[in-house]
Amino acid sequence: MTNLSTTYLGLNLKNPLVASASPLSKKIDRARKLEEAGISAIVMFSLFEEQITRESLEMDHYLSRGKDSFPEALSQLPDGGLYSVSPENYLNQVAGLKKALTIPVIGSLNGVSRGGWTSYARKIQEAGADALELNMYYLATDPNVSSNEIENIQVELVAEIKSAISIPLAVKIGPFVTSIPNFAKRLVEAGADGLVLFNRFYQPDFDLEELEVVHSLDLSTSAELRLPLRWISILYGKIDADLALTSGIHTSRDVLKAMMAGAQVAMLASELLWDGSLERVKEILSHTQTWMEEHEYQSIKQMQGSMSQKSVKDPAAFERANYMKVLGSFRELP
Ligand SMILES: Cc1cc2nc3c(=O)[nH]c(=O)nc-3n(C[C@H](O)[C@H](O)[C@H](O)COP(=O)(O)O)c2cc1C
Repeated sequence: MTNLSTTYLGLNLKNPLVASASPLSKKIDRARKLEEAGISAIVMFSLFEEQITRESLEMDHYLSRGKDSFPEALSQLPDGGLYSVSPENYLNQVAGLKKALTIPVIGSLNGVSRGGWTSYARKIQEAGADALELNMYYLATDPNVSSNEIENIQVELVAEIKSAISIPLAVKIGPFVTSIPNFAKRLVEAGADGLVLFNRFYQPDFDLEELEVVHSLDLSTSAELRLPLRWISILYGKIDADLALTSGIHTSRDVLKAMMAGAQVAMLASELLWDGSLERVKEILSHTQTWMEEHEYQSIKQMQGSMSQKSVKDPAAFERANYMKVLGSFRELP
C-alpha cells in the first residue's frame, strides 16, 4: 500500500494536500467538507494587520470622541470589504474550526510592519491553532528604500512573532527578491520553521474608457507552478526549514512535481475555489496514489527532493546556464 503521509512544521499529515489560505475556511461546514474530501490540513484566511489596526483606531476614537465622527487615520487604511473580519471574530473562527475538525488548523497573519498588531500571533495560538503562517505581502515602491532595509524589517518581524509563540511558524514570501536563497536563510535563522513559496501577486489592469486602475482576481493555472517548483528545487537541502509549495497546484501531476522538487506539502486554493464540489480533492489524491503505484514508489517521503537541484543529473538546469539552451530550443522559424 502506498504511503501518502508527510510531515509539515512538525505536524503529521495523512497526505501532502493542504488547503491554502482562502475564503474556504470562513465557513465551518465547508472546512468540514474539505476534511471529509481528504485535505490533510487547512490554512485559514488571513487576519490582516490593517484590520487589527483599524479595530484599535476605531476603539480609541470611540472611547475618546464618540462614535459620530470618523477618525482621519482610518481613511488611510484599506477596507477589505467582504474579506475583512474583526480580530475577535477571527479568533472565534480559529476556535470553531479546531472544535469541528480533526486535521491541523494553521492560522494566518498578514502584515509587514512591526507593532502592536503582532500580539495576535499569541492570541491565535491561544485560540487553538496548531501552527501559524505569516504572510509578508509587500510591494516596494519607494526608490529611496533599499532591498536590504526592507528585508531587515521582515527578518525582525519574523523574530518578533517567533518569540511570542510556541507553535511552529511558517513564513509565506513572494518571488521578487534579489537573492531568494539568502533571504530564505535569514528568515529561517530568525525563527521560521517553514517557508511557503510563493505569494501570488495580483496585478492591476487599466480600464481604457474610464481611465481607471481596475482590480480583478483571476484564479491560477498549472502554468504558474514552474516558478515555485524551480525555487523549491533550489532551496531543498540548503536551508533548514520545511518547504510548502503554493501557486499552480491543480492536478495530481502538479502534486507529484511539488514533492519531487522537495516540498513537504502542496497547497491549493484556486482549484478548490474553481471546482467547488470538492470531488477534485478525492480525484487528485487517488490519481497521485495510482501514479505512484504504477511507478513503484512506496511513499511520498521516498519521492521528496528526488528532483531537487542537488539530486538531478544536471543541476545547471535550474540556473542561468540553461537560459540560452531554452531560448535555442524554440522551433526554427520558416
Ligand atoms: C480568493 C482568494 C483569497 C485568498 N486569501 C488569502 C489570504 O487571506 N491569505 C493568504 O496568505 N493567501 C490568500 N490567498 C492566496 C492563496 O492562499 C494561494 O497562495 C494562491 O492563491 C496561490 O495558490 P493557487 O494557485 O492554488 O490559487 C487567496 C487566494 C484566493 C484566490
